[in-house]
Amino acid sequence: MSALTKTINMFLLSVVIMALLVVVILGFMLGIGHPLPWVIIVVLIIIPVIHDKLIKKRCLVWHSSMATGIELVDNDHKQLINLINKFQEATEFNISEQKIHQALDEVVNYTKYHFHREEALMRINHYPAFEAHQQQHQQMIDKISHYIGEYKTDKSLAIDHVLHFLQTWLIKHIKGSDQEYVPYLTITSLPAEMMQGEEDV
Ligand SMILES: [Fe+2]
Repeated sequence: MSALTKTINMFLLSVVIMALLVVVILGFMLGIGHPLPWVIIVVLIIIPVIHDKLIKKRCLVWHSSMATGIELVDNDHKQLINLINKFQEATEFNISEQKIHQALDEVVNYTKYHFHREEALMRINHYPAFEAHQQQHQQMIDKISHYIGEYKTDKSLAIDHVLHFLQTWLIKHIKGSDQEYVPYLTITSLPAEMMQGEEDV
């Protein structure tokens, strides 16, 4: 769904909610015991719940088929999914440009942090396809930088591109290339200094 469509949907939803609130006020004029305002109040409670569920349906969900069995890597991947979902929700609700940027920054920063740790694990285990894998990471970072540059010319299009790219690339990479290094990674922990600051990211 494009950013423009999301904005129109949010606007229409706001109009419907406002109209229903007016009906509630008018309904109470018919008397406190009249069923109409109470029915509308129930509808007003249900609308946000359904809306929230529809948005969550479009979010990424962790699945056992994505597991590498390496705790450090799997936890990083789960956190990445979580951050991409937060970015998705920020674009859906379109609260503010600043919130969307903040959510995207968090995804990009955590992605770099995760790649750094994953590459360190591959390096200390002398993974034979390390360079090719590192290249994939670099290409991903380059592509994100490209979309961030695109943002300067077309905001909504760039946000749509980056969201779609993050969602599809990550799942494909986790289920594909990341599974290939699993048999080679016998050392599954990193030096303490690379584990520090994890909570700060
Ligand atoms: Fe990777």
